Amino acid sequence: RPKLPEYNTVDDAVRLLRESKNIIVLTGAGISTSLGIPDFRSKDTGLYSKLEHLGLSDPQEVFDIHVFREDPSIFFSIAKDILPTEKKYSPTHGFIKLLQDKGKLLTNYTQNIDNIEANAGVLPEKIVQCHGSFATATCVKCKHRVSGDAIFDEIKEGKIPECSLCRQSIEADALKPQGLKRKRSSNGDHKDRKNFEDSSDEEDYEIPTPGVMKPDITFFGEDLPDEFGHRLVHHDRELADLVIVIGTSLKVAPVAEVPGILPRKIPQIYISRTPVSHTGFDIDLLGDCDVVVSELCRRAGWNLDHHMIPVN
Ligand code: OAD
Repeated sequence: RPKLPEYNTVDDAVRLLRESKNIIVLTGAGISTSLGIPDFRSKDTGLYSKLEHLGLSDPQEVFDIHVFREDPSIFFSIAKDILPTEKKYSPTHGFIKLLQDKGKLLTNYTQNIDNIEANAGVLPEKIVQCHGSFATATCVKCKHRVSGDAIFDEIKEGKIPECSLCRQSIEADALKPQGLKRKRSSNGDHKDRKNFEDSSDEEDYEIPTPGVMKPDITFFGEDLPDEFGHRLVHHDRELADLVIVIGTSLKVAPVAEVPGILPRKIPQIYISRTPVSHTGFDIDLLGDCDVVVSELCRRAGWNLDHHMIPVN
């Protein structure tokens, strides 16, 4: 992607911030590391560098939907380490809220599943959680959905949360006369059978178990929420006048493709510790993102001070 020649320096970035009215902010795990939440791919501190004990061929398999269906215990063995912390937020989350307060935030596309943007006061209508979040969880069997915090205690204890609705219906079935059993037919439907003894083929019967509650995170192999592509292509693409990408390695499609599909005339700023080589930004501001956004605000004459203190 060829650079726009008129934007190079930190002060160019500040001028863009001041002048822009519809800013897309695309964020990744790097904006939460100052709160003690690990990112994924940093060499020694990222989550993926700490998963050798799981014996996976690729650490990303902890978020692979096929692996989850086979063995949910792999995901739940690490889920407690990435659960959202209470009510904290970083200065970078505060910066996104400040853009919102100034009427400049078009959309924050976040890949983060920690839901921390909400702690900073970024409005739900300003956020697209591209990879879902822990805010809700859904039963893999009956699709019963609950608030995410309903399963936080079990996740913290390293347990595999199971569906209370499935459990209730299994218990209700067990109380029925002759213990109603269910048979799975060849086309996958469930058929009620009144009497287990009627069966000439006992292997067709399953011992009923409740479904597992899966946090509504978008795993590899699952579709992103419809809102992601829809809002980007049919709404934001035309309106945006600045893109700021913060704290992401841009390794995971389709989010990684966002900078490339936006019109060339929209300036793009990249803020992160590590440069990316596979896509070109107009201005690269490399370093700790909390420090970088604080400096941008200082030069813009904006007050980020009251956002600096994490709230518990
Ligand atoms: P990564 O771990 O791939 O990238 C985080 C980036 O932020 C790296 O470039 C770090 O150098 C940088 N970084 C870390 N701390 C920083 C700080 N304090 N200041 C500035 N930069 C910092 O995380 P993501 O790009 O978010 O998907 O990963 C994308 C997706 O991959 C995630 O959403 C997750 C993962 O697999 C799913 O879980 C489905």
